[in-house]
Amino acid sequence: MEMEAPVLAALAAVIIAFILLVLPHLRKQSSSQDDRRRQLPPGSFGLPVVGQTVGLLRALRANTGEAWLRRWASDAALTAKSSTSFNSMVGRRNIRELVGDDHRRVRAMMVQFLKLDIVRSYVASMDDEVRHHLRAHWDGRTTVAVMPSMKSLTFDIMCTVIFGLGRADHAAVRRELSAEFQQLVRGIWAIPVNLPFTSFGKCLAASRRGRRTVAAIIKEKRAKLESGHSSPSDDLMTHMLAEGLADEEIIDNVMFMMVAAHDTTASLLTFLLRHLDGNRDAYGRVVAEQQEVARSKAPGEALSWDDLGKMKYTWSAAMETLRLVPPVFSMLKRAVADVEFDGHLIPKGWQVLGAMNLTQQDPAIFPEPSRFEPARFESPIPPYSFVAFGGGARMCPGNEFTRVETLVAMHYIVTGFRWKLADGCDGSFSRYPMPSPAQGLLIDIEPIDTTTTGATGISK
Ligand code: HEM
Repeated sequence: MEMEAPVLAALAAVIIAFILLVLPHLRKQSSSQDDRRRQLPPGSFGLPVVGQTVGLLRALRANTGEAWLRRWASDAALTAKSSTSFNSMVGRRNIRELVGDDHRRVRAMMVQFLKLDIVRSYVASMDDEVRHHLRAHWDGRTTVAVMPSMKSLTFDIMCTVIFGLGRADHAAVRRELSAEFQQLVRGIWAIPVNLPFTSFGKCLAASRRGRRTVAAIIKEKRAKLESGHSSPSDDLMTHMLAEGLADEEIIDNVMFMMVAAHDTTASLLTFLLRHLDGNRDAYGRVVAEQQEVARSKAPGEALSWDDLGKMKYTWSAAMETLRLVPPVFSMLKRAVADVEFDGHLIPKGWQVLGAMNLTQQDPAIFPEPSRFEPARFESPIPPYSFVAFGGGARMCPGNEFTRVETLVAMHYIVTGFRWKLADGCDGSFSRYPMPSPAQGLLIDIEPIDTTTTGATGISK
């Protein structure tokens, strides 16, 4: 808490979601408690148990979440917390629920596979997965639904580089897990009513199937580790086994990582293509930058770490996409002690919803905030203004992984294909709570003849 408060206090906009059942308490308070109550942030508790969740979900689906949040906006300072539905889907011992030394220990294990010098070594495998995916799912097609395609690509990349589940030896397991995850992520913000016909109930069933598959993989990895056929540095699951984590704890954190690492980056890639389609100048600059990199390569040669350093404008366009359409719409936090902020009291135990959209669309920080303008990120921006990856001790450790994956994928898409939104696809989207474009963002594609552009191409 002490570590996070100053950082989170700097976040410009934090929204109060009053979902605790403390109202009866407040009525009985003494006069000093009444003063305390006057200090509470404005708003209402909403309905018992579900609080304001239903109203927010409705607004997200109609893509009016920002307007809904503005009605409740206040500023505050807090620590991480997951929703009941989220914990039901991924398991209660996931990293977001851990505090103090437990959090530091599990985070350190994950960071082993996400730190800069390790992510550098992923470039070749990511390059191979991207080319394989485009050959299998884009080559020879005239229309592609971008979101499902990117979800499948980012799921495969994550399986290969973080979990050591390669294409050759784990193809069936990857397909099985991918299907369960498509289903279970929809349950993360579902109303927690567990019946066979509710959305929550169906997603919970998918989560149980996913957990069984992960448990079987753990068994396989334990046997390899014990027989000396693998080492803890091979992949995250083997590392967690070697560190002595209980199986249930490994499963919860693997489930968390699988959610955290693939849907988010798939959303970024999808909306990056959508924004470039609508902004031809930015599109032209990205194409020019990528073709210059391609011209420096031999036909079929894989991208290197140095090549990614030359893709600065492409990454600015990705940051601008994350600013406009952050994959993680909000962060639920919990006060682990009474917190005072900006004249308000957030009592211990209260939950608070931090909304990055409000910060990232603040015209005082980003003039003309609804305009797509990657050049904003060519010069430094004020600290804690760009919060798509959160901030402080809980900041997303996958940001460098995201940068590398995005640049590798964009290189081959941009140099291999031209695209535009398909007729009838207007690029609109809803939130579930991940941004989901209508029709999965249907685009018409046309291959680029790489022999004339000098691009490396997707063939080997
Ligand atoms: C566009 C891509 C991504 C976005 C927008 C994103 C966003 C976020 C956000 C907002 C948080 C919460 C931060 C906070 O509480 O301050 C988070 C946490 C986390 N993310 Fe990401 N993420 C992305 C990709 C990834 C990837 C690729 C990985 C792993 C490979 C990853 C792993 C994690 C982990 C492990 C946490 C929990 C950190 C903790 O509680 O200590 N994320 N992410």
